Amino acid sequence: MPEFALEPNAAPLDANERAGLLADPGFGRVFTDHMATIRYSADRGWHSAKIVARGPVSVDPATAVLHYAQEIFEGLKAYALDDGGIAMFRPDANAARFQASARRMAMAELPADLFVESCRQLVLADRDWIPAVDGGALYLRPFMIASEVFLGVKPASEYLYCVLASSVGAYWKGGARAISLWVSHDYTRAAPGGTGEAKCGGNYATSLIAQQDAIARGHDQVVFLDAVERRWIEELGGMNIFFVHADGSLVTPPLGGTILPGITRMSLIQLARDAGLTVREEPYALDQWRADAESGALIESFACGTAAVVTPIGRVSGPDYDFTIGDGGTGQTTARLLAGLSDLQRGRAPDPHGWLRRIA
Ligand SMILES: Cc1ncc(COP(=O)(O)O)c(C=O)c1O
Repeated sequence: MPEFALEPNAAPLDANERAGLLADPGFGRVFTDHMATIRYSADRGWHSAKIVARGPVSVDPATAVLHYAQEIFEGLKAYALDDGGIAMFRPDANAARFQASARRMAMAELPADLFVESCRQLVLADRDWIPAVDGGALYLRPFMIASEVFLGVKPASEYLYCVLASSVGAYWKGGARAISLWVSHDYTRAAPGGTGEAKCGGNYATSLIAQQDAIARGHDQVVFLDAVERRWIEELGGMNIFFVHADGSLVTPPLGGTILPGITRMSLIQLARDAGLTVREEPYALDQWRADAESGALIESFACGTAAVVTPIGRVSGPDYDFTIGDGGTGQTTARLLAGLSDLQRGRAPDPHGWLRRIA
């Protein structure tokens, strides 16, 4: 593995100014003093690993990513633990997903140990940027772009990998509450054979109009149906989804190539099973969701992801329907899974599967 050259920021933000930003960081607006970068070229492989001052990246206007969107990214968090330590949550799973995304986009695969080490080094360099606020964490954003300067349509032979760190608080403004969803019947997110299971920027570019539509109609998030039958629930713009039935069992849509394999999703399936709950990965139809919510056969639904952790869903609407889940608030199973996962991530609960990667 190449050594990381440390080139500390010569003008880090003043501690008082940093404290001001960390008091109410919001999500994705406050950035730390450093970033990690690694370059790839077909002839040299991975090289020039560095931790440097965060700053603009200058690119030639003919850089491939600007034209054909060969780009992938990840999202994971580092947490301050109660004992003063710091840990990342399942960075190896993000490293594996980053490699899978790279394969799908015909990009160079970053070795998993380099991915984890780049995140670890960045967190160590910017450890003072983890906000102490409720729900606070350092959100890490590894990403990779095709950096070759060439206008031919082909996989690039040069890549720039970079990791940013952003100090974040709770994802939802105004604190945790049940969200309302708009079911998109006009737009789909991913088709079989497409890029739905890859974490590539293009998936998000095409989902924005649907999310904008949901917001314009007064909802928090969009939920997508499958592209073939327009019948099965897939996921939200940036979160997976679970359904909780009155018999205590959970259902979540299966990974079939069109859904992002969420690490929160995978972790919650395990935690729920550890707690003795039945979890089925099986298709669930919109009509069934509505009928089950109305009959009381379904009592809770929640969305999950690194950013928003576990978020209850209170209401679901479409062009000519509107239904409430349970009493429209946070259900018991949702609350229990949220507490279980958050406690584990912050080192307040046992970690039987070894998901926390301690770095300090
Ligand atoms: C489309 C989509 N689905 C699901 C998720 C949840 O994935 P994870 O739990 O790994 O954050 C995300 C967030 O990364 C996402 O962008």
